[in-house]
Order: sequence, then structure tokens, then C-alpha cells
Amino acid sequence: MADGLPTEIDLSRPSAARVYDYFLGGAHNFEIDRQLAEQIASMTPNLAATMRAGREFLRRAVRALLDAGIDQFLDIGSGIPTVGNVHEVAQAANPKARVVYVDIDPVAVAHSRELLAGNDLTGVIHADLRQPEAILAASRSMGLLDLDRPVGILLAGVVHFVPDADRPADLLATLRAAAAPGSFLVVSHSTFEDQPQEMLDAQRLSARTATEITLRSRAEITGFFGDWTILEPGVVHMPLWRPDSPSDVDAHPERFGAFGGVARYDQPAG
Ligand SMILES: C[S@@+](CC[C@H](N)C(=O)[O-])C[C@H]1O[C@@H](n2cnc3c(N)ncnc32)[C@H](O)[C@@H]1O
Repeated sequence: MADGLPTEIDLSRPSAARVYDYFLGGAHNFEIDRQLAEQIASMTPNLAATMRAGREFLRRAVRALLDAGIDQFLDIGSGIPTVGNVHEVAQAANPKARVVYVDIDPVAVAHSRELLAGNDLTGVIHADLRQPEAILAASRSMGLLDLDRPVGILLAGVVHFVPDADRPADLLATLRAAAAPGSFLVVSHSTFEDQPQEMLDAQRLSARTATEITLRSRAEITGFFGDWTILEPGVVHMPLWRPDSPSDVDAHPERFGAFGGVARYDQPAG
């Protein structure tokens, strides 16, 4: 690492994690990321708002899992843990909550390690969602998560970076199979459903990052939960998932372009 950054970062291409950080008002991004972010923002103001709405959905979902007694979280595609991230929400409610962050982006991983130094109940893994066994093995060997107990698996705004050719449903099935009964799965995912053309065009710009986005239908996204029990209100446009206040939802919750849902693994009877 030089200047606190890993040597393998590619500064010739924008990175999804750093573009996302820029939209969230973070400082962990470069000129090449800001240029793409500004171009996306000029095409549609909704995309920046989508990213913030995504973070809000994730916080509400994590709180719901904490209320259900979950005290350990595997957050895959965690990005750069800016203010109000999963460990802050979780450890504010339960100081003993454990969080393992996983991201493919070396900059996100390096900043996460820096931000979390000294927090013994959090860990960071540099890994690819497309290799779920490696993620599970690394989180086991880290000793932070006990997968024989219920865990919250968080996949917020990440599965749309996995193209169909990489069989995302199979990847999620592998993660679900490793979880104990009583575990929860949180997914938010970009969609083409109910979207105006400019949103679809802006999403297409993601092809310039190393991680292109695949927009999916509500039915496909619902399929990622497998046979787990989907909690109320179902797989819905993100602001509609248990809003803190009805006034947080306006007339166009679809404008954020992503569905969110939460499911629980109920032990099969008999
Ligand atoms: C839009 S951000 C979401 C951040 C965070 N989960 C949230 O909701 O606030 C997506 C993150 O997924 C990461 N990512 C993309 N493809 C991935 C993959 N195959 N494996 C692991 N992480 C991935 C990106 O590097 C980025 O940090």
C-alpha cells in the first residue's frame, strides 16, 4: 500500500464503490469517479437519491433484524462504511453486535479497514460475491461470526452487479444454505420495472465501471429469497419497506428504481 491505498487499484476506470461514496457525500473518491457521478447526476437526479434511499432501506432492515434478536451480520457489497453504516446501527442497539463487511473493491476494503481499526467486533474481507464459499470460509476463519447461530445476510445494492451468466440465484442459494434457521436475508436490487427511459439510460453508464449493472424484475428479485419467508410488506420499492414515518413516502416511491425485501429462514416443519 502507498499513501494508505492498495497498489492494485485501477485509477483509469471509475469504481462503483467510489462513485457511490461520492453520491453519499464521502471523501473516498477520485476525479475519474466524480466525472462519472456528475454525468449520471446530470442525466437523472434520481440516481443519487436512489443511493441514499438504498442506505436508508438498509438501516431500517438492520433495525428490524436487531429487533428480531439478530446480533451478527454478514454485509456483502458493503462499500465504504460512511456515517451511519451497519456496524454503527447494530452496535448502537447492541454493543456486542458483530459485523463482517465484504467488498470486491480494494479501495472500499482499505478504507473500511482504516475506519474500523480498533473495533474488535467488526471485520473486513476482500472478496467477490461470485465466490460465496470463499466468503463463508473467510468469515468462519476470522472467528467473528458463528454460522451455527442465526445471522443477518445483507446484500444491499450488490446483486445487480452480478450478471445472469454468473448465476446470481445459485450464489444466493449457497449463502442461504450456510445459514442457521432463524437467519435473515436482506436484498435491495435495481429494477427496470416502473422506470422512465432516462433512468434506464443512466444505469447503462455503469458499463464503464468494472461492475456493470443488470436490472431485474420484481419476480426475479423475489426469487433470490428462495423458500425463505418474505416478511411484510414484501418485495417493494425501497421507501415502502416499513418507513419510519408515512411522511417519508411520497407519491412516487418507484422513482428510486430499486426493490427491497427481507426474508427469514423458518425451520421446515417435521
Ligand atoms: C451500490 S454499493 C452498496 C453499498 C452498501 N451495501 C449500501 O447499500 O449502502 C455496491 C457495492 O458492491 C460492491 N460490489 C460489486 N460487485 C461485487 C461483487 N461481485 N462482490 C462483492 N462486492 C461487490 C461494490 O464495490 C460496491 O462497494
